[in-house]
Amino acid sequence: MDLPAVVINFKAYAQAMGARAVDIARAAERVHDETGVSVVVAPNAVDLVRVREAVDIPVFAQHVDAYQPGAHTGSVLLEMLAEWGIDGTIINHSEHQVNFSWVEYVVHRAHELHLEVIACAADDAIARAVSDLQPNAVAVEPPELIGTDISVSKAKPEIIRRSVELVHAPVLVGAGVKTTEDVKKAVELGAQGVLVASGVTKAKDPYKAIMELAEGIIRALP
Ligand code: G3P
Repeated sequence: MDLPAVVINFKAYAQAMGARAVDIARAAERVHDETGVSVVVAPNAVDLVRVREAVDIPVFAQHVDAYQPGAHTGSVLLEMLAEWGIDGTIINHSEHQVNFSWVEYVVHRAHELHLEVIACAADDAIARAVSDLQPNAVAVEPPELIGTDISVSKAKPEIIRRSVELVHAPVLVGAGVKTTEDVKKAVELGAQGVLVASGVTKAKDPYKAIMELAEGIIRALP
């Protein structure tokens, strides 16, 4: 993935599953084509391959299991992502937390498979620890703002400043990010982009919502 980027986590929103996941991914690709801003989509595991086939922008999983291929019923593995040309994965999202050794395995094995990893962190200590593993980005998201209309950029800009200093990897920030101004401020504070969900998945017009986020990156750059 190129940075700075707008990374869109589709989570398990009804508005972003099945054919609607493909539609949102196409809207994201259109924004990328029209602006040159890097836009990454992370649909649910079932929709990954369909979305991969529909667009050329980076496609990430939302989570993977830290197993080698074998008898692990119901698991989603990095090797499965690699088979179908998925670009990478998010790991340790607040809504799907794992222990440190799980993140360690995922970053290590992903790099062997030439996949990318966005490691999420709910606080400074986790951000610092996962950044030492050298993921492609660390996404810092204060859990209490996730899914709200109060953005991390407005409510907790100090978290962005601190993370950029502490973390030894590119920093993405997320939680409540919905406007051009939210993204612009995050990038001006040193973030390499944003991780967003509800601002796009719940928007009446996802294309317009993604375009507004991309404009934040354009306006923040010299
Ligand atoms: O992964 C993105 C995320 O947790 C932020 O969600 O809905 O606040 O943009 P949202």
